[in-house]
Amino acid sequence: MELSAKTIEIVKATAPIVAANAEAITSTMYKIMFTNHPEIKELFKDAKPDQHKKLAAAVGAYAANIDNLIVLEKAIEKMVSTHILKNVQPEHYPIVGISILEAIKKVLGDAVTLEVLDAWKEAYFFLAHVLIEQEKLAYADV
Ligand code: HEM
Repeated sequence: MELSAKTIEIVKATAPIVAANAEAITSTMYKIMFTNHPEIKELFKDAKPDQHKKLAAAVGAYAANIDNLIVLEKAIEKMVSTHILKNVQPEHYPIVGISILEAIKKVLGDAVTLEVLDAWKEAYFFLAHVLIEQEKLAYADV
C-alpha cells in the first residue's frame, strides 16, 4: 500500500493550516466521537485532559513527514505500546478517522475542499493501517 503522489502533495500543502488548528481539531474530534460513540469513552477513562494535544502533535508530525515516515518510527512505537495497553482494536480506527475528518471540516470550514478532505482521509487510513498491523503483531506477542 502506498500513498499517491497527489495525496502527499495536498497533505504537505495543507499541513500548516491543519497544524495551526490542530488542538481545536482534535478537541472537536473527541467531542464528535464521544457523542456518536459513547462506548469509546471507556478507553479514555484514564486519559489526561490534554490527551488531544498528544494527538494534535502526532497529526502535525505525521503531516510534516508524510514522505519520510521513517522519522516517526519511535513515535509510532510509543503509540502502539499505549494502544496495546488500552486494548485499541482495528474496528476503532474508522470511528476515530471519521470523527477527525468531520472535525477538520467543522474547524476549517470553507478552507477545506472535498479534494483536501479526501487526501487527509487517505493519509489517515494509511497511518491507521501501519498502526493496526504493528498492533496485531504486538497483541500476538502478549
Ligand atoms: C491514526 C490514528 C491514531 C493516532 C495517530 C493516535 C495517536 C495517539 C498518541 C500520540 C497517543 C499518546 C501515546 C503516548 O504518548 O503514550 C495515543 C494514545 C491513545 N490512543 Fe491513539 N491514535 C490513533 C488511533 C486511536 C484509536 C483508533 C483509538 C481507539 C479509540 C485510540 C485510543 C487511544 C487511547 C485510549 C490512548 C491512551 C489515552 C490515555 O489514557 O492517555 N487511538 N494515541
